Amino acid sequence: MSTINKYIDKNKKRFLDELLDLLRIPSVSADPKFAGDVKKAAKFLADRMKEAGLSKVKIHKTAGHPIVYGEKIVDKKLPTILVYGHYDVQPADPIELWDSGPFDPVIKKTKKHPKGAIFARGACDDKGQMYMHVKAFETMQQTGGVPCNVKFMIEGEEEVGSDNLEIFCRANKKLLASDVVLISDTSVIDNKTPSVTVGLRGLSYVEVEVTGPNKDLHSGVYGGGVANPVNVLCEMIASLKDKNGKIKIPDFYDDVVKLTKKEREAINSAPFSITQYKKELKIKDVMGEKGYSTIERTSTRPTLDVNGIWGGYIGEGAKTVLPSKAFAKISMRLVPNQHPDKITKLFSKHFKSIAPAGVKVEVRPHHGGFPAVTPTDTVEYKAAHLAMKDTYGKYPIPVRGGGSIPIVAMFEKVMGVKSVLMGFGLDSDDIHSPNEHYGLFNYYKGIETIPLYFKYYTELKSKK
Ligand code: BES
Ligand code: MN
Ligand code: MN
Repeated sequence: MSTINKYIDKNKKRFLDELLDLLRIPSVSADPKFAGDVKKAAKFLADRMKEAGLSKVKIHKTAGHPIVYGEKIVDKKLPTILVYGHYDVQPADPIELWDSGPFDPVIKKTKKHPKGAIFARGACDDKGQMYMHVKAFETMQQTGGVPCNVKFMIEGEEEVGSDNLEIFCRANKKLLASDVVLISDTSVIDNKTPSVTVGLRGLSYVEVEVTGPNKDLHSGVYGGGVANPVNVLCEMIASLKDKNGKIKIPDFYDDVVKLTKKEREAINSAPFSITQYKKELKIKDVMGEKGYSTIERTSTRPTLDVNGIWGGYIGEGAKTVLPSKAFAKISMRLVPNQHPDKITKLFSKHFKSIAPAGVKVEVRPHHGGFPAVTPTDTVEYKAAHLAMKDTYGKYPIPVRGGGSIPIVAMFEKVMGVKSVLMGFGLDSDDIHSPNEHYGLFNYYKGIETIPLYFKYYTELKSKK
């Protein structure tokens, strides 16, 4: 056993207990009710970072939630890895669907996690994955030192679009100067099949409001005579896609980079079982854009989805009412080279244009984010390749992910620095869903792999 593995083994329980303490803090960034807890999580993290041996640890205030920074400069001549992660989490709702409290972590065995998994909001996304880096840093510090410079930038607003992160980065370019951003906030294919994420989708997110008559009406007295905004909204949404799953917003696909046959083949050659996919989700069949595989539909193709829809009476029993208003939250996942603001504008223009005269339509943009692809022919990627080979016994497969992480494109634009997405979660870990969990195997595997990334990266970089 290497000294690194020995150290991890000896401190296993404490590494876990500390994470459990962090998971007990409900740092939900979207809900102002939890603003105090978000602060508490930042403080908790800053304290642990100091204990681990990082210098210049500081909680930087922003217009929103704070950013926690810390660094270890070994030698100015050595390369610098910037570790990014987020300590904020998604809301736990619907709470009644959790088998245990979302902020009351418990460890249970599952089929996919026979060694046990931590059940809590944020366990995988991203407290568990982010905290691996703090513990990996501690491990390096205690077993021969960190081989290159490292900076930590852990934010509290990823789940709400990272709006203040760009402002912070622009104002602190010197502080954040680095050679690569290392992020663990994605997944591996499975615990025997490592992968590195080499692409993320962008996002355009809007809320729409459809108003009919100026007040709720009796659905018998007025029903049939005026527009029902809920009916109208449903029809408008239904018209946004054709029967082949193509999005019908004019010019929506204009900037989509067409993948070559070879690229598509490579993407589709990743291990994937449609039978297992359907079984896990308890669905009879998959659905999506015609002409593309499920892997492509969920990673390299843009989408349009309703995330929530409401209006009218939704209480107990029946109330005969013709509602005055209807609402929906709609997200569009974007791929290179779609521009989130441009897509939001196209959506808005089209959505207003299809509204019948009997209703008024408002479109309110929320946060957005750019899509990103990361290269595989760099030493930054190669280091992940070698590190995962050592700990999994197999080289990782490059895959494109369907989610979004706004910093990746932003940091490249502002700082000219690219990211490596070496995540350790599983797609089945129920992030953003009830009963989110993170495997103990995955947590410790990450802590073991990260020091190897540092080692290989420093070696490869010095040869260049
Ligand atoms: N960690 C996720 C993104 C992710 C998950 C990427 C799994 C690839 C695989 C991240 O925390 C997230 O949820 N991002 C948001 C975007 C944000 C702008 C709200 C998302 O993708 O919905
Ligand atoms: Mn995340
Ligand atoms: Mn998330």
